[in-house]
Amino acid sequence: MEVSFLLNGEAVQVSAHPTVTLLDWLREGRGLTGTKEGCNEGDCGACTVVVQDLDGVRAVNACILFLPQLDGKAIRTVEGIGTDGLHPVQEAMIAHHGSQCGFCTPGFIASMVAGHANGRRDHDTVLAGNLCRCTGYAPIIRAAQAAEGAKVPAWIARDAAWLATAAKATHAPHNSDELAALYAAKPDALLIAGATDIGLWVTKQLRAFDEVIFLNQCADLAEVQISEDDIRLGAMVSMARVHQVMAQYHPSYAEMIRRYGSEQVRNAATIGGNIANGSPIGDNPPALIALGARLHLRKGASRREIALEDFFLDYGRQDRAEGEFVEAVTLPKNAPDLRCYKLSKRFDQDISAVCGAFNVTIENGVVQDARVAFGGMAGTPKLAHATMAALQGQPWNMATVEAACAALTQDFTPLSDMRASAAYRMAAAQGMMRRYYAERQGTPTSVLEVAP
Ligand SMILES: Cc1cc2nc3c(=O)[nH]c(=O)nc-3n(C[C@H](O)[C@H](O)[C@H](O)COP(=O)(O)OP(=O)(O)OC[C@H]3O[C@@H](n4cnc5c(N)ncnc54)[C@H](O)[C@@H]3O)c2cc1C
Ligand code: FES
Ligand code: FES
Repeated sequence: MEVSFLLNGEAVQVSAHPTVTLLDWLREGRGLTGTKEGCNEGDCGACTVVVQDLDGVRAVNACILFLPQLDGKAIRTVEGIGTDGLHPVQEAMIAHHGSQCGFCTPGFIASMVAGHANGRRDHDTVLAGNLCRCTGYAPIIRAAQAAEGAKVPAWIARDAAWLATAAKATHAPHNSDELAALYAAKPDALLIAGATDIGLWVTKQLRAFDEVIFLNQCADLAEVQISEDDIRLGAMVSMARVHQVMAQYHPSYAEMIRRYGSEQVRNAATIGGNIANGSPIGDNPPALIALGARLHLRKGASRREIALEDFFLDYGRQDRAEGEFVEAVTLPKNAPDLRCYKLSKRFDQDISAVCGAFNVTIENGVVQDARVAFGGMAGTPKLAHATMAALQGQPWNMATVEAACAALTQDFTPLSDMRASAAYRMAAAQGMMRRYYAERQGTPTSVLEVAP
């Protein structure tokens, strides 16, 4: 595949296999070894680079990014970040002793550069996807704070000017109509969205894919449409963008997404990929199902719409025909009763053991409507029908909540695996139900909420 992009200020054109990663190409193809390989699966951030496109500047993991995903974009590796003299975050890292062995440093610098360009001050979140074995983080955070507000380097504007003139990619469909025609003709092709799953199939499972279709040039699939009642998210909307939208409309959902992977992962992963992969532990489906979201599927010229919960048929099996793809998901704009809870072994950058979403409408002390969904409790993300029935029409009190907790055992027979035992999962799900009740009653559920 022919791919063109700007690398450290130089326009390059590359002919590459579709699933060559940016990291391998940088290190082995260009000799740019400043960008490091740590885990090769998106977890450590050692490979972080800065990518700019017309939507702005962001940090991404080069180890699970394929070269064709970069078509028409501008990339800066640590070798190109100091082009106009040391970047303010580089100066600050030196001044604050933010580097020891140095292996993680280029990745931290890239994340800090993107955070700095975007005026971010939530450094813990910006840097949650970068691991360091030596410094203990405090000097790095101090460096990020010290660089706040410093002038951004001129190369950001120069790269932006180049982006405006970049030619359109020729290897990929440019909109959903082109995609629909291409995929209907080649239903065996692998659709590649953000590649935060597929990247690992290549780097860890060493699988090879020759017939692929990249979705990243389909601009209409990356649209967010907000109408009077609904929010429509195109399949290619990134998790970073979903987070921004939810922060405005569904804060509890947004808080859950803040813990989805890392900044780098959220910048690459898409809502469509998180639904289409059918994972039982994807973080979006429980929240979307509790909201009553509708999924839009398309095959060639024909479209259909289904309730999201009906898409997940069984473990590894979804209601998606050959040549059919996820086009968008629609969810209600208003749902003040929604709360989402993610339980994982680590706070940041960890897959859920259990993810629960509750959306219970109460009028005059009685449950009018209840939608409760879980991930991590079955082979698919799933509505808790018996639990919902135990809530429906009942007085909103602790006795009803306990009956709902008991009903959870009819809904789910969870598995034991490396993330949690079956008993722990059930106890955690019941704990989430009780927590939801406490939060709705205004009872503090965290020491942080108790006044000193
Ligand atoms: C370090 C790391 C941390 C992670 N943390 C989390 C986490 O906290 N929570 C979580 O839920 N997930 C997490 N993930 C998993 C991953 O980010 C998600 O599953 C992601 O949303 C997949 O989206 P993608 O765009 O990257 O999909 P891709 O990897 O591009 O594709 C995934 C699958 O979906 C298919 N597909 C993609 N788009 C479409 C479409 N529009 N129509 C039909 N099929 C399509 C692809 O063909 C493929 O089979 C993490 C991954 C990594 C590497
Ligand atoms: S090498 Fe660890 S995230 Fe890329
Ligand atoms: S300085 Fe050694 S890993 Fe961070």
